[in-house]
Amino acid sequence: MSDRGEVVLRAEKLCKVYPSQGGDLEILRGVDLLVHRGELISIMGASGVGKSTLLNLLGTLDQPTAGRLWIHDTDVLALPADRLAEFRNRHLGFVFQVHHLLPEFSALENVMMPALIGRRRGTEVERRATDLLVRVGLEDRLHHRPGELSGGECQRVAMVRALVLQPQVVLADEPSGNLDEDTSARMHALIRSLARDFDQAFVIMTHDRALAESADRMGRLEAGRLHFPTDSRPGESP
Ligand SMILES: Nc1ncnc2c1ncn2[C@@H]1O[C@H](COP(=O)(O)OP(=O)(O)O)[C@@H](O)[C@H]1O
Ligand SMILES: [Mg+2]
Repeated sequence: MSDRGEVVLRAEKLCKVYPSQGGDLEILRGVDLLVHRGELISIMGASGVGKSTLLNLLGTLDQPTAGRLWIHDTDVLALPADRLAEFRNRHLGFVFQVHHLLPEFSALENVMMPALIGRRRGTEVERRATDLLVRVGLEDRLHHRPGELSGGECQRVAMVRALVLQPQVVLADEPSGNLDEDTSARMHALIRSLARDFDQAFVIMTHDRALAESADRMGRLEAGRLHFPTDSRPGESP
């Protein structure tokens, strides 16, 4: 729909088959998805249904067995491996259930890492990283290492790290999966306000109904397909 604005990600008929001894495992059987600029999309589904598999495909971390994927106007599956890494670094942000912060580095250094890898200018990056950490309430934790932070604080650092290069699409895999209820509610509010203020799209895989329902659109992954039950355009096939 044109009133939803620019499409930042388009997936068409994504399939994923894992070969296994007992026969092929068909996990995704033709997933279609359109993500618009600044849109918050949640995707719910039972454990083992393929949420992480789909997130890895959308994030170009894994290749589909079949299907097509565009991010902005780039046909990402046609990119050679070396360009793909750079493309991913520039256009996508990731938040995983396990935060993967580097234990030897401070919160601020962890947040700056993707930018330093992308060879952005240090002072500018440091300012943005600091601003984001302040924004998520970690102004007194800039120089703490992950071991000196709580689980919720680590998750906020990981969230901010995903945003530091201002990607138009942020992919989150059960971002509040390991957090208690209060901390996870704060994480949800944070995601909503970030999406709104920075006009970044979020695709969030979750089995947390409260988080899912706070999204602009709520999808459900079931039997290898993605449905949008409350949407008047089911699945939003392009
Ligand atoms: N690399 C792999 N090889 C074989 N099977 C896999 C692989 N990754 C995931 N699976 C299987 O695919 C299914 C979906 O996994 P996953 O995407 O992690 O589900 P979810 O994130 O929804 O819990 C599971 O049954 C899992 O065992
Ligand atoms: Mg998963």
